[in-house]
Amino acid sequence: MDWPFEEDLASTKRSVLRAIYWDGDAVAILDQRALPQREVWLRCTDVKQVIKAIRTMAIRGAPAIGIAAAMALALGARDIQAADLQTFRRKFLRLCRLLKETRPTAVNLAWAVDRMYAAIPGNQETDVFDLRRRVREQADALLRQDVLVNESMARIGAEIVPKGARIITYCNTGTLATGGHGTALGVIRTAFAVDPTLRVFACETRPFLQGARLTTYELMADGIPVTLITDNAAGALMARKGVDLVLVGADRIAANGDTANKIGTYTLGVLAKRHEIPFYVVAPRSSFDPAVPDGSAIPLEERDPAEITQLGGRVVAPAGVPVWNPAFDITPHSLINGFITEVGILRKPFDRAIRKALRSGTGAP
Ligand code: MRU
Repeated sequence: MDWPFEEDLASTKRSVLRAIYWDGDAVAILDQRALPQREVWLRCTDVKQVIKAIRTMAIRGAPAIGIAAAMALALGARDIQAADLQTFRRKFLRLCRLLKETRPTAVNLAWAVDRMYAAIPGNQETDVFDLRRRVREQADALLRQDVLVNESMARIGAEIVPKGARIITYCNTGTLATGGHGTALGVIRTAFAVDPTLRVFACETRPFLQGARLTTYELMADGIPVTLITDNAAGALMARKGVDLVLVGADRIAANGDTANKIGTYTLGVLAKRHEIPFYVVAPRSSFDPAVPDGSAIPLEERDPAEITQLGGRVVAPAGVPVWNPAFDITPHSLINGFITEVGILRKPFDRAIRKALRSGTGAP
């Protein structure tokens, strides 16, 4: 299926960076695969087009794919043909299941889908038009809430950033990965506003290069000093005492604090421990999954071997070589100093701190 249209909007329409927004009755998604060379917008007019955008990583990042799933469901609800409420609910539930299968690791996606389903009341005192309206309002609320949550995490996290800090970050955790502002990158943004002497090292993040392509793009746009390094250079930089702090995001955090994040995060955690550098995970409560006791139970997505055997469309490995391409790894909780959330910094013992944080409200700061 082709996109209905692709339009280069770099110099039109928007002045502020964002990953996704309502363009009338359609969902506009900034195609992150084309960045930083081109700003291409995908105009998704139905649920299937948003599903494709999530699967192919036109939009990515745990909170952003949750928001995309919610907006997809609003499109889906609008298009459901149903004369009665029961049929509507059955068809909507089928769409929810479809959305949940798009990417398995980031729990924010399932979290958002569950909230969308919960927006449909079980009683009969309503009609199909009302359900469609409720679904759309819930999608809008999730987007607004994510921005507020990010700003709250950023305020709380900025407190632990030392003056003049040299910060390593991994993958992309900024505006492009969220509803706006970002998680780890949100902390960096807010810290930079009060301390313009801080500096960032962005790991390139093989194989999809979210760090090289997206994090540098966001930071440079904000005038925040950033140096791009290969993933392999992080250890050497730490050994030279060039790093004060590691800030990363998360895709799913188990009940004991084990954290799934972009492949290579675990390596960074081991290196940080070896060099006694604080390692913090910045994540909203929607990234925690109390149903999963530890990291071994988190499903880890494996992606197309071509992401590794090709570089910018050019083949770089012998044809037929066996490939293992996990998109995520698990950083054991023992390597993590704390979780920066919208309700405060969670410290050890993590199981207790996580239980308490998840009890305290629904996600709004
Ligand atoms: O495969 P991606 O690009 O969706 O992976 C993204 C990450 O691993 C991020 O670090 C994580 O989702 C946190 S984003 C705020």
